[in-house]
Amino acid sequence: MKSMHFHKFLWMFIASMFLFFSCGNSEDITPIPIPDTIPIDTVSTVDTTSLKKVSPFPFGAALNVYLLKNNTKYRSTVIKEFNSVTPENAMKMKNISLGRGLYNWTDADYIVDFAQQNGMRIHGHALVWYKSTPDWVTNFVGTKEDWKQILHEYIVAVVGKYKGKISSWDVLNEAINDDGTSRDCVWLQNIGIEYIDLCFQYAREADPDVLLFYNEYGTEYSSAKRTAVNKLVNDLIGRSIPIDGIGLQMHTSIARSNSDIQNAITVAAQTGLKIHVAEFDIKVNPDKLQDITYNATLAAAQKEKYKVAAKALFDLPTTQRYGFTFWGVCDTNSWIPAEYGCPDWPLPFDSDYNRKDAYYGILEGLK
Ligand code: G3I
Repeated sequence: MKSMHFHKFLWMFIASMFLFFSCGNSEDITPIPIPDTIPIDTVSTVDTTSLKKVSPFPFGAALNVYLLKNNTKYRSTVIKEFNSVTPENAMKMKNISLGRGLYNWTDADYIVDFAQQNGMRIHGHALVWYKSTPDWVTNFVGTKEDWKQILHEYIVAVVGKYKGKISSWDVLNEAINDDGTSRDCVWLQNIGIEYIDLCFQYAREADPDVLLFYNEYGTEYSSAKRTAVNKLVNDLIGRSIPIDGIGLQMHTSIARSNSDIQNAITVAAQTGLKIHVAEFDIKVNPDKLQDITYNATLAAAQKEKYKVAAKALFDLPTTQRYGFTFWGVCDTNSWIPAEYGCPDWPLPFDSDYNRKDAYYGILEGLK
């Protein structure tokens, strides 16, 4: 009983001291910021600015399931900054399709659940890509009708599985060469050029509401490819083949001119379709130097490219601004150093998930 009285007294004393000091300095009291929905130990809760709050169209990143599960800074940065996600690898045919009628949904489901729990839009990537053809498909032997059948089975299974959950799909990825000709692939060899129509038709059959994209790289450096993409898309539109948007990957570098970046976006927009800057990153080491360090000059050059691309999308009619997606979150999870065999820092967050100048370039581009 004695101890209860002592504690009561102690708390009253502490409370009255708190009131005394705080009332005496009332004009100095600054409101405590309301924490964002991110863990306190990872990303700053003081600065509540984020790309998703500032931008009039969705911002997102290609997500790596392993990092999402195991790296708290990665996960909390994604939650804080983005309202759109693209699975970097989890929805590719090689990852999902283990054999005819055999599917591995584990990683794809993880991303879908994560995005839904955090109110994010999901962009599926990619139903058909020549680089992600499982061995069982490459080795398949059959007639043209048999090939159509396996294409149909796969697309209907995947699009149907996520019907109502996924907003949009890269239905076909990289079907055109840099010189504007059709890229060789097993589908072209076994079905003929009609395979392109079928990809979009099968996807539409499986989900009448999902948005269907053609995704391509290199339209910022190849005018032949730029022309060929618009020709393909306009041909699809003209024949009432369902298509809603163009994804421009934009894996480019500080060596690319501003006008090339702008031109890729404005020319694709002439089709009237939605434009997704779908896999954006900016290399600062296009010459593949081994002894390079990231410095203020490179950061400024990179910032400018981020700004130019964001502004070019921002300047399109509202209905055509589908979104802007980075291919990775921070520099250490970019695909570029491993692919090109040299150091690079292509993304808007540094290796510790701090915002780089590139991030602020985006904000400037949205004004
Ligand atoms: O997960 C396995 C691991 O278990 C294994 O030990 C290791 C050995 O190589 O491979 C790991 O898988 C790799 C995977 O990335 C995850 O890191 C694959 O080999 C590798 O091929 C795969 O690369 C991906 C590449 O597409 C091919 O699918 C990149 O992460 C991904 O960024 C890249 O993304 C493409 C877009 O889909 C289309 N546009 C171009 C873009 C860049 O190439």
